[in-house]
Amino acid sequence: MRKPVIAGNWKLYKTKEEALALIAELAPLVAGVSGVEIVVAPVFTVLPTLPAALSGTGIALAGQDVFWEEEGAFTGEVSPRMLLDAGASHVIIGHSERREYFGETDATVNQKIKAALLGALVPIFCIGETLAAREAGETFSVLERQLTMGLAGIDAAQLAPVIVAYEPVWAIGTGKTASDQQAQEAHAFIRGVVAKLYEQAVADKVRVLYGGSVKPENVKGLMSCPDIDGALVGGASLKGASFAAIVRFQE
Ligand code: PGA
Repeated sequence: MRKPVIAGNWKLYKTKEEALALIAELAPLVAGVSGVEIVVAPVFTVLPTLPAALSGTGIALAGQDVFWEEEGAFTGEVSPRMLLDAGASHVIIGHSERREYFGETDATVNQKIKAALLGALVPIFCIGETLAAREAGETFSVLERQLTMGLAGIDAAQLAPVIVAYEPVWAIGTGKTASDQQAQEAHAFIRGVVAKLYEQAVADKVRVLYGGSVKPENVKGLMSCPDIDGALVGGASLKGASFAAIVRFQE
């Protein structure tokens, strides 16, 4: 059985004070939820503020990006060890916004995933096609390329902790969610690629999250799809009530 993961990507929102207020609202609303892994990803500067507030809540912390070097002359970057030091256990890698605005490529995503794994962080590895790619009938070839290049040189044992997030770019922040059917089709395809790259038993275990305008209203339908193992939530993770309702999708 694959344990569901609900992860909140706060993007470029929330100061320390705002983050603490959100956790104070969220924590009681998700208290007692079992069988779901809950993760929140604030900006780097907020990370060290949260472990004390999260202690005992079962909510894990993630960085939104990571660099692959441990230290050195790399102005502006944060290493896996520094993320761990700040209290993170997970890290989002290859988010489409980083690919689109910050020059992230399949090759840099691959380096980051390897570094995160070496640094004992759980990578949340994001892939997804643009609207142009979908309309050109290239969805599957894009996903296969992103998976193959992103996971290059990572063996089956190393892959075990990796979480994949399928986020169709056209559904992010647009209010347009993929239909349950479109999402399930992509997720089944992704699992098939993992089976091809590794083996079926590995693919059966890897968790694949859906992301792109997930809300309390659509999470149940998405989570009822056999190959969807959780959600990566942007906008709806910025309010305690909506994120908690997503976390409690089973109720
Ligand atoms: P959204 O963002 O839920 O606001 O569409 C999802 C994401 O970018 O991870």
